[in-house]
Amino acid sequence: MNPFRSIWNWILRLEYDWVKVSAGITLFWLIGLIGLVLYPYFVGGKITLGGHKTKMVTLLPTNQKVPLKVVPYDAQELRGRQVYVSEGCWYCHTQTIRTIAVEMARYGAGGIWAPYSRAQEYEYDWPQLMGEHRHGPDLARVGGIVVGWKRDPRTGEMVHIYAKTKYSNGWQYAHLRDPRSLVPGSIMPQFPNLFDQYGRPTQRCRDLVAYLQHLGSAIDWRPQTYKSIQPPPIPIAPGTAVSSSPSPPK
Ligand code: HEC
Repeated sequence: MNPFRSIWNWILRLEYDWVKVSAGITLFWLIGLIGLVLYPYFVGGKITLGGHKTKMVTLLPTNQKVPLKVVPYDAQELRGRQVYVSEGCWYCHTQTIRTIAVEMARYGAGGIWAPYSRAQEYEYDWPQLMGEHRHGPDLARVGGIVVGWKRDPRTGEMVHIYAKTKYSNGWQYAHLRDPRSLVPGSIMPQFPNLFDQYGRPTQRCRDLVAYLQHLGSAIDWRPQTYKSIQPPPIPIAPGTAVSSSPSPPK
């Protein structure tokens, strides 16, 4: 006997109670709505992330109301941008914060989420250096805000003064010279070509760091210069004589 025929006959012999069927469909839909939409949105919103009450379902994050003021590069930063391109920093670093809660929390500071990148911020960039690989962290919010101008005694040109940067210029120089001295286990390469034989940053290096401090300058969101990132203690080679006291009892 044709198996399809017998299955079809079996289906025809079933007696559906269409009231129950539609009640089932409605219930299925309701459970789905509660479990997948209402519960994550209203109850799941009680979980915290980065010190913030957050919703698991973030339709559009709300801290984007900060005014956006795109600042053009000064001459030094434009040169620094060329250094950034030619040293291949963009192989490893992106410059775009996506509209994803975890990402905004990750690049935030002091419990405040970093605003996601907006199209206008790339106004003076060609080509845009959004990048495509993240072997290192995103750099879109690594800089600070422009608070004025000063004359650079080295070059005699006018350069931006920055506040609220993530790192000081000194940190950036030390990091470029030897990333692992500040971040043990970092895979970022050293850039000895940016320093002279005495280990002082060259003009190219200064230009590059000026450019880094400009990144993200369109939005004033960071609470202050992010001092909470201190260089971790440099690991001491085994066998080195150090006066170490045992950790206090708990
Ligand atoms: C091989 C990949 C690679 C390249 C090339 C690279 N970096 Fe990095 N970078 C990293 C990684 C990984 C980290 C994270 C660890 C650390 O801080 O050293 C990092 C961290 C950084 C940070 C700190 C970011 C933060 O928010 O903590 C800055 C600034 C930075 N890099 C700038 C540069 C610049 C400028 C260049 C080009 C001269 C460059 N990087 C080239 C991989 C790279």
